[in-house]
Amino acid sequence: MKTKVVVIALSVLGSVMFFLSNAFANPDPEVPLPVSKRQALQLNVPVDIEKGARIFAGCSGCHDAGPSAINRIGPKLNALIGRKAGSVECYGYSKALLKAGKNGLVWTPYKLDAFLMAPNVFLSGNKMPFKGIKDVIARRDLIGYLKTLN
Ligand code: HEC
Repeated sequence: MKTKVVVIALSVLGSVMFFLSNAFANPDPEVPLPVSKRQALQLNVPVDIEKGARIFAGCSGCHDAGPSAINRIGPKLNALIGRKAGSVECYGYSKALLKAGKNGLVWTPYKLDAFLMAPNVFLSGNKMPFKGIKDVIARRDLIGYLKTLN
């Protein structure tokens, strides 16, 4: 029984360490870190921007993008790559996101990948009601699509 508890505690600790290292270890590679060997192999598949656009349908209820975009429940997402976090004018961000931006968080593909994998683990206290996208390929395709939004 005790061993079971220790094993569970260790695996929880392991996942937390994984998230933390995934979020902060690597400064800014273009391609997000693979989360498993199988997924690492899949990363050789070219980015599917159309698939990314379909995944974005799950964001567009809250986020607008494009030349005449407006802030909705979430801030507009045009020109997101390279944008400072919490920097869209006239949008009421959470304190957590504003603070992250002040501390230098910029939405690079890598940071976005970590955020979209598990928003609340990446930045606790943020107010985006979204549980995250577990599939690394889906995140990569989505980020490929986000790069096209200006
Ligand atoms: C149910 C509504 C909702 C959904 C769905 C949603 N978001 Fe958000 N999003 C928000 C809110 C609200 C915020 C502001 C968070 C804060 O201030 O803490 C936000 C913030 C963000 C930010 C930070 C923007 C900035 O200016 O710093 C990014 C990036 C983002 N969302 C991307 C996405 C993507 C990509 C998806 C789809 C996979 C998505 N969101 C789905 C509501 C949503």
